[in-house]
Amino acid sequence: MKSYLKTFLFVIIVLTTLWYISNPLNALDYVKRPEIVIAIGVLIITILMNGKIVKDLHETRFEKLSKEEKEKYETQNDWLSAAYTKLVGKNRPIEEEHEIILDHNYDGIRELDNNLPPWWKYGFYASIVFAVFYLTKYHVFNGENQYTELETEYVEAKIAIEEYKKTAKNLVDFNTVKVLTEESDLSAGKKLYDLNCVACHKVDGGGGIGPNLTDENWILGGGIKNVFKTVSEGGRDGKGMIAWKQSLKPLEIAQVSSYLLQFQGTTPAEPKAAEGEIWIEQVQ
Ligand code: HEC
Repeated sequence: MKSYLKTFLFVIIVLTTLWYISNPLNALDYVKRPEIVIAIGVLIITILMNGKIVKDLHETRFEKLSKEEKEKYETQNDWLSAAYTKLVGKNRPIEEEHEIILDHNYDGIRELDNNLPPWWKYGFYASIVFAVFYLTKYHVFNGENQYTELETEYVEAKIAIEEYKKTAKNLVDFNTVKVLTEESDLSAGKKLYDLNCVACHKVDGGGGIGPNLTDENWILGGGIKNVFKTVSEGGRDGKGMIAWKQSLKPLEIAQVSSYLLQFQGTTPAEPKAAEGEIWIEQVQ
């Protein structure tokens, strides 16, 4: 019986660990992945067999003991039951109860002056120690109460939300990108452009190795979405426009794309001849 209990416990532990490790998997996913189910099954059978072997061995060896040894073995307690008896305490045997019976008698109901159970007493002592710390922390040194805790948690949550918003901005992709208009984004975009793009597109977007970015003509499509896509994925093979998603974050790509769209309609110093189709933004 004991070994079955152990197996059961073990299986629960294994399953819980698995559950934690493979967080996104839910119960159905286990069924969808039979190798996991089989592995767990094999594991359980192995443990059961192992438990049985240990038990049999134990019994065979027990049979070999002499009578005294058997008795000694059976009376000897393992530490767990020793601890248990210690915590529960022992009541006086019935024959000695007359020594501890109290004088009073309520309609025939009488009371024994048994010792308090040790576990109860330990709990009581622990609560005294706890009270001392609690009292000094919260009533002498005015520790945080629920209100101040709530306030600090609000502040923390606000910071966390701000942080999230920052990364959320970074989560833009081809589908969600919008033209950024904030000054900080545009100046960040200009910096990125001057650093990475002028070599081929010129400072004013007039074009060189890369096409003119100031005219209405686009080889790979105009508008923020197409530009974002071109900058992240690169141009046609062999043309020289690399996929910038290797080195720029999504937000940075959105910034540089928004910046270069401002070249539209400006007159660069040495404009390169228009390439591609005239792009008309579709109103959705
Ligand atoms: C090594 C040169 C080079 C660099 C550096 C470069 N580009 Fe390009 N770019 C090109 C070429 C060449 C094309 C044309 C690609 C094609 O024809 O497929 C192009 C195309 C483009 C287009 C599409 C134009 C159209 O007409 O569809 C955009 C937008 C663009 N680049 C933006 C950028 C940005 C932003 C950077 C900097 C992060 C950059 N490029 C850096 C060479 C470059």
